Amino acid sequence: MAEIVIVPDASSAGALVAGMILELIDARPDAVLGLATGSTPLAVYRALAEGARGLDVSRVRGFALDEYVGLPEGHPESYRSVIEREVVTPVGFDPRRIRVPNGAHETIRTAGAEYEDAIRAAGGIDLQLLGIGTDGHLGFNEPGSSLASLTRVKTLTEQTRRDNSRFFDSIDDVPLHCITQGVGTILRARHLVLLAFGEAKADALRAAVEGPVSASVPASAVQLHPHATVVIDEAAASKLDRAEYYRYAYENKPDWQGL
Ligand code: GLP
Repeated sequence: MAEIVIVPDASSAGALVAGMILELIDARPDAVLGLATGSTPLAVYRALAEGARGLDVSRVRGFALDEYVGLPEGHPESYRSVIEREVVTPVGFDPRRIRVPNGAHETIRTAGAEYEDAIRAAGGIDLQLLGIGTDGHLGFNEPGSSLASLTRVKTLTEQTRRDNSRFFDSIDDVPLHCITQGVGTILRARHLVLLAFGEAKADALRAAVEGPVSASVPASAVQLHPHATVVIDEAAASKLDRAEYYRYAYENKPDWQGL
């Protein structure tokens, strides 16, 4: 079972997870981070930017989870731009060491395999940050995605396009296709850290951590991982059957175990 940590709010989650990342960088200055986009991980990136002040993080490497296909280079809502704006610049990472899947039309056929090669060449991802979609998607792995899938092109569901239309002028501007690390790619990371905040995520989260492991809920793949930490607020935890047990286990956790 993934470890479920219920915290009061997103900023406490941000501080907790940023602390884990800083510890990792301290132990391994060229650590490989898996970076997620969306609003959920922003609290982590803010806390990381504060905590990293004065530290040398220039050797850290990173791989984004996903990217839209076909947005023009430099589009403010491309995940390349979002990762630079929200993570790379504020934290002080070296942009040359942070990769995002290449969503350009011209090279899309080989972009997935290239990304897998790059992750492998980096020695794999040490810590993968994850959000969850309201439909249970992980990265952009929509319901039905193979649990063994690798980085590839996917078609976004209407619901995801609707959810993400808040970043665009209208839903018609949200690309139809994306390139995403597969569920199998994600499962190869050495530590998964999944975050979820707010009531809108409560159903998806319950299905992911307490429901059956199924391609119909790609986020349920975290149950297959030997080291997964799920950090959520009270609202996202509100539909969990075993919330009391998770709190009890966390409160009584032996110090030596770490996160
Ligand atoms: C997007 C991203 C996912 C993210 C999800 C939830 O579709 N591709 O990686 O987890 O949306 O987004 P948010 O954190 O904004 O709720």
